[in-house]
Amino acid sequence: MKILVIGGGGREHALCWRLSRDGHTVSALPGSVGISSIAQCLPGSVDDLDGIVKSAQASEVDLVVVGPEVPLVEGLADQLRKAGISTFGPGAEAAQLEGSKSYSKRFFARHGIRSARFFECTNRADVDSAVSALGERMVVKADGLAAGKGVVVCSTSEQARSAAIEMLEEGRFGEAGQTVVIEQRLEGRELSVMALCDGKRYEVLAQAEDHKAIYDGDAGPNTGGMGTVSPPSWASDALITSVCREILDPTVAGLIAEGLDFRGVLYAGIMVDAEGQPWLLEYNVRFGDPETQPVLMRMKSDLGDWLAGAARGTLPEGSIDWDARAAVCVVLASAGYPLTSSKGDPITGVAEAEADEGTVVFHAGTAMGPHGLETAGGRVLGVTSLGENARAAAASAYEAVGHITFPGMQFRRDIGSRGES
Ligand code: AMP
Ligand code: GLY
Repeated sequence: MKILVIGGGGREHALCWRLSRDGHTVSALPGSVGISSIAQCLPGSVDDLDGIVKSAQASEVDLVVVGPEVPLVEGLADQLRKAGISTFGPGAEAAQLEGSKSYSKRFFARHGIRSARFFECTNRADVDSAVSALGERMVVKADGLAAGKGVVVCSTSEQARSAAIEMLEEGRFGEAGQTVVIEQRLEGRELSVMALCDGKRYEVLAQAEDHKAIYDGDAGPNTGGMGTVSPPSWASDALITSVCREILDPTVAGLIAEGLDFRGVLYAGIMVDAEGQPWLLEYNVRFGDPETQPVLMRMKSDLGDWLAGAARGTLPEGSIDWDARAAVCVVLASAGYPLTSSKGDPITGVAEAEADEGTVVFHAGTAMGPHGLETAGGRVLGVTSLGENARAAAASAYEAVGHITFPGMQFRRDIGSRGES
């Protein structure tokens, strides 16, 4: 198949890598330095929806796979389908499951999906009543998309009140913060469960555990994700069965009942409590980053068949085959991340890191400067390795990381070691 992937981050590099390994002809818009070695990169921007439709038409692709959430929420998948192009990704309405926290929390409530108790607030009086009802530990969320930065996890009611007021009255996060969701803070261990959905049924992908905090031991501010393990050994089959029965089944039934034709990834952010019960924190309507990197390294079935099936409205028969080995992705982030971002720092050692055939270095934020590869800010590379178990995969990934240098490089040293055998 001729497949066009929209986006240019680590997730899209992993999608292009898997699809090209599966024998498809892959192009990406805009792609990246890393993607350019395996796929044709088309000029353009993920914000220019009309331009993307034109490029997809001009290149006569069989399928478009939309990576990031912003164009989905803006209706890219609707526009592409209207132009007769088979597209993997939900339309704007269903993408509200990620695009609006209040929309998604109401959806969970309507369909009996276990999720934290919540209040929607648009003014100070709402905030006061939410805070007095919820006690001390809560989470404050800007309603709209805020590039993963609109969630403040609070330990005191005072922190929560000021985070909410800052969003509502001081315009932090702009439009996205004009409504705020305040919810009960859940405790436990997080799990990312992604499922490919064709609008009627779904196929669960291999699970992954992300590590959101910037420093080892989950210290410091949250990031987009500093590393992932697939599969986390603590995620039992019984837990995944509960996630399917209690979260994914009612979600798909709810989508059908509400007439939402969801063809894309349902990515459930799950909190597993002390009793082992799963709670739904949120849905994303696209692949996780950096979950996609280790998950797709383990996928043995043809990803293109599954994405095309979902886009068509009929997933393939049977189930996806997975490599029984584990995979670990260690993210290398630029100096100052996540508070600031440094660009233009020279990167060395990527080829040496990839010398081991079980390791792939996915590019997330790189550029080609006058002296070669350099950082382009934020998360820069995702060094991903396979191994017999999570510890072995992590050992390979860290060995590969040892070859790579750039000024101010930050990474966690505990990916794949917490509770892994
Ligand atoms: P979200 O964008 O809703 O997934 O939130 C981003 C991150 O904030 C999650 O991955 C969790 O680490 C944290 N978080 C969100 N909601 C809650 C909650 N109710 N309790 C505890 N942590 C949460
Ligand atoms: N890894 C978190 C996300 O993709 O949202």
